[in-house]
Amino acid sequence: MLAKKMQDALNEQVRIEAESSQVYLAMASWAEIQPGVDNITAFFYRHSDEERMHMLKLIHFINERGGFAVVPALPQPNLTFPSLHHAFKQLLEHEIFVSESINKLVDIALQEKDYATHNFLQWYVAEQIEEEALARTINDKLELIGDDKGGLYLLDRDILNVSVTGGGTME
Ligand code: FEO
Repeated sequence: MLAKKMQDALNEQVRIEAESSQVYLAMASWAEIQPGVDNITAFFYRHSDEERMHMLKLIHFINERGGFAVVPALPQPNLTFPSLHHAFKQLLEHEIFVSESINKLVDIALQEKDYATHNFLQWYVAEQIEEEALARTINDKLELIGDDKGGLYLLDRDILNVSVTGGGTME
């Protein structure tokens, strides 16, 4: 059985993952109307789907442990971006925020001596390492590319080979 404090904290994470999914869905929709970035668009859509999967995994866990997962209300995310680089900077900042939130959950699990939840959360800890690393790599590339359209073309081609979950690296 989940302690109330643990359950509330996990439900807050449900909200954060749902919000992440919406934030990246908005990036995907905006990217879709920009020229020449079809694969980057697909990356954002896929990332949004993965965040929804993170949310669902939490919902099932809370309910299976005798709690009640609360489906949250969400604010409207940013709809437009000054540039692709701005969108990816926001993505990186958002992932850093998510990592901090997961770390807080791990702290609470330890305080509560809830080792089942602690064990469950390790998947998220590992996932955040990958997501942050990938977001940093893409931001570094966009920094180098600047206004070079050829560079953007190559990034859009290379991003086909990366996936947020389960690795795939960009050299
Ligand atoms: Fe589920 Fe990207 O945090």
